[in-house]
Amino acid sequence: MSVSPAAVAASNPVATPPAPNPTATSTPTQADLLDFVRRTAADVDLIASLPLDPEGRTWVRLEGPGGSEAWLIGWPPGTGTGWHDHADSVGAFVTAAGELKENALAVRLPADGWKTLELTDGVDRERRLPAGKGRSFGRHHVHEVLNESSHQHAISVHAYYPPLPRIRRFSRSGPILRLEQVERPEDWQ
Ligand SMILES: [Fe+2]
Repeated sequence: MSVSPAAVAASNPVATPPAPNPTATSTPTQADLLDFVRRTAADVDLIASLPLDPEGRTWVRLEGPGGSEAWLIGWPPGTGTGWHDHADSVGAFVTAAGELKENALAVRLPADGWKTLELTDGVDRERRLPAGKGRSFGRHHVHEVLNESSHQHAISVHAYYPPLPRIRRFSRSGPILRLEQVERPEDWQ
């Protein structure tokens, strides 16, 4: 993927965001974010309002609970995020339509000072997330999310807190992970 969510969202019509969770009055937890994405994914009208493009992913920014960053994302068949992490943000996402696959690493990566890493055996995790299924994750989570379907669009809802301060993007060849790019919010404007 070469275009950031924010850049694309700016060119998309903005859907009406769901009402923030009235119980989330302070710093949202992983559970709060998961609750938000589940409730949002159940909003049939909102999900249907997302513009879909067979050529690439589409995004609409939503207002998450407690100042969190939230997105509604459409995934044509065969698209994915590539490997990345989310710095100190926690997050949650749920599939609203179609099916997504998450590949994740069960290890914490060094913060800085490296260009490539060789992963050991046994650190890969994968899970399939059909419609209605989601997950939350803690700080420093490393993953890629894919729509492996050959024919079906997927739609998902994501939320992060604090709003993403930085995303590191990686390429991967077998056990070798290479740091490719560090994106900051100013890069997304
Ligand atoms: Fe992610």
